[in-house]
Amino acid sequence: MGWYRAVVHPALSALPPEVAHRLVMHALALPLPWERIGGAVRDPALETTLAGIRLPNPIGLAAGFDKGCERLAALGRLGFGYVVGGTVTRHPRAGNPRPRVVRSPTRLALVNAMGLPNPGAEAVARRLARSPRTSPRLVSIADEAVPDAVASHALPEPHVDGVELNASCPNVSWGRDRDTEAHLAALLRELGARRTRPLFVKLPPFRTAVEREVVLTLARIAVDGGADGLVCSNTRPVADRRLAVGRGGLAGRVLLADTVRLVGEVRASPDGVVPITACGGIFTGEDALACLRAGATTVQVYTGFVYRGPEILRELTSRLAAELRPSARTPEDR
Ligand SMILES: Cc1cc2nc3c(=O)[nH]c(=O)nc-3n(C[C@H](O)[C@H](O)[C@H](O)COP(=O)(O)O)c2cc1C
Repeated sequence: MGWYRAVVHPALSALPPEVAHRLVMHALALPLPWERIGGAVRDPALETTLAGIRLPNPIGLAAGFDKGCERLAALGRLGFGYVVGGTVTRHPRAGNPRPRVVRSPTRLALVNAMGLPNPGAEAVARRLARSPRTSPRLVSIADEAVPDAVASHALPEPHVDGVELNASCPNVSWGRDRDTEAHLAALLRELGARRTRPLFVKLPPFRTAVEREVVLTLARIAVDGGADGLVCSNTRPVADRRLAVGRGGLAGRVLLADTVRLVGEVRASPDGVVPITACGGIFTGEDALACLRAGATTVQVYTGFVYRGPEILRELTSRLAAELRPSARTPEDR
């Protein structure tokens, strides 16, 4: 067991989740040897291209960890192949009342009901303009009104390699109540005409046949609307009485089987022509490999990073490199 799991994680777990997260964000501002702490393997076999963006490895940090894009430079130095900042909205948002994040450690899970707190697109764009690029970086955006989404896209876009449209947040009222299909089509019409960088759409998960129909329709709208890639997927909506708002999005290990299935189904659908990013429940190299084998081009981690710490980067990159190195392939694979 590494130092994070032995020492740091137990100490952070004694604190409320948001306090622990703030401490980690403060630590990431320190001038520490982040490359060594992450220990990610650099290997040409890991190099990946995602919609034209060249990545040193296919492991991304998922949206929501650095909502205000404050520490993307340190996070990039840890060895992520790319980092996703945000989700950012045009105007600053305070988010939902606390408690709005809870842990379920025995299930290696988190439940999130933050409601997209962030300092707003203008502040984030200023921050991105000043911060050095240590890895490819995307920004995640979401908004209710189309003109707001256009602004939250246009302001940070010059300072990132791509934009991820969060079409799947379960924690804002407009994420649940509006006509998501019409809204996504309208957003892509406007953003598609203006964008200068790749645009990705993050889909909600599905479990039932009805949800599957809805999500595959969203995937079709996204691809028809010019999206350069799909992210499968966001958290699973659940009730949780520990949260002030009583419900949130389940994240963590329990999502893995769904993630592999979702990636496979979207890949097999007519919309599986664009690159797919797997997100949900990825903790180990085997998890990441299962997603790549199901058809994902990259994977993103959030809860795995929280429970495993920076060591997850060494674990994931070394396992993938061992698998993807040409010498590891059988003659039939080549
Ligand atoms: C506390 C928390 C906050 C999150 N905030 C966002 C967010 O702002 N935007 C977004 O697209 N996803 C957000 N997510 C979802 C993650 O990006 C990811 O899709 C989800 O947690 C599944 O991956 P995981 O099982 O590796 O955590 C958040 C998740 C958590 C646990």
